[in-house]
Amino acid sequence: MPRHIAIIMDGNGRWAGKRALKRFLGHQQGAESVQYVVETASRIGLPYLTLYAFSLENNLRRPKSEVSFLMKLLKNYLVGNVKRMNDNNVRMNYIGRTRELPTEVQETMQWAMESTAKNTGTTLTLALNYGARTEIVDAFRRILQGLADEAHRRGCSVDDLLGAGELDGLDEDTISAALYTAGMPDPDLIIRTSGEQRISNFLLWQIAYAEIFVTDRLWPDFRGIHLLEAIVDYQRRERRFGGLNENSDEKIDTLQPISELETAIATELEPQEPVRRSRAS
Ligand code: FPP
Repeated sequence: MPRHIAIIMDGNGRWAGKRALKRFLGHQQGAESVQYVVETASRIGLPYLTLYAFSLENNLRRPKSEVSFLMKLLKNYLVGNVKRMNDNNVRMNYIGRTRELPTEVQETMQWAMESTAKNTGTTLTLALNYGARTEIVDAFRRILQGLADEAHRRGCSVDDLLGAGELDGLDEDTISAALYTAGMPDPDLIIRTSGEQRISNFLLWQIAYAEIFVTDRLWPDFRGIHLLEAIVDYQRRERRFGGLNENSDEKIDTLQPISELETAIATELEPQEPVRRSRAS
């Protein structure tokens, strides 16, 4: 079982367009899918589900009316679903530059987080006003600020700290711990709906070894069963994290010598005699 699944929910606009409906109705239907998928995740005991609900780019590049509709939808979603989240033991969490969201939305987010904080089942993380590169920028700012604070605490300069080898301790774990997702395991599986084969600035650091599942299904048509379908597909895959298959009986010393391979390749590539067709055929 994966421990963490992240989903790029795409295709709300296309879903609406196909039905000659306004885009916002696609988003509204998309919010319904969110609840179905969250409840399935909770039923199968998935520890972490992260949903890309609203990117920094969405915030900057979509018409103001669409952005404010998405904000209203988010608020209504939280207000309308906290009880169900508690019934399903789901804990709310957020990643992104959430402080740039409208104040009343932030207040509802805070309320939903506090109201579900004691739950021990699935952690539902909504990526809001989120961009992975910005997350890395924020992580660097946090690390550098930490360095300055440490120098201040010790009554020395940052230069002194660097001279004393402070940077030797900076490793991948330092960066992971400075990201918005600190404390969460990296996603094992990333799902994208609507067929686009892109990552779109989502969790770039964290998905280094994630399996990717792309489905043509539009997000508003996505249900719990489709989450299960993606998990079954994931379970058929062999994850190697850059190593070899555990069951591999292929030993380096028994590999075919490179010279034999070269001959085999050359013969394969040599132009073949055209096959003569007999007149009778
Ligand atoms: C992509 O569809 C989806 C979004 C930009 C927003 C995702 C929002 C929701 C699923 C609903 C609200 C979420 C919560 C948590 C209540 P698109 O508009 O880019 O679709 P298109 O590519 O077909 O135009």
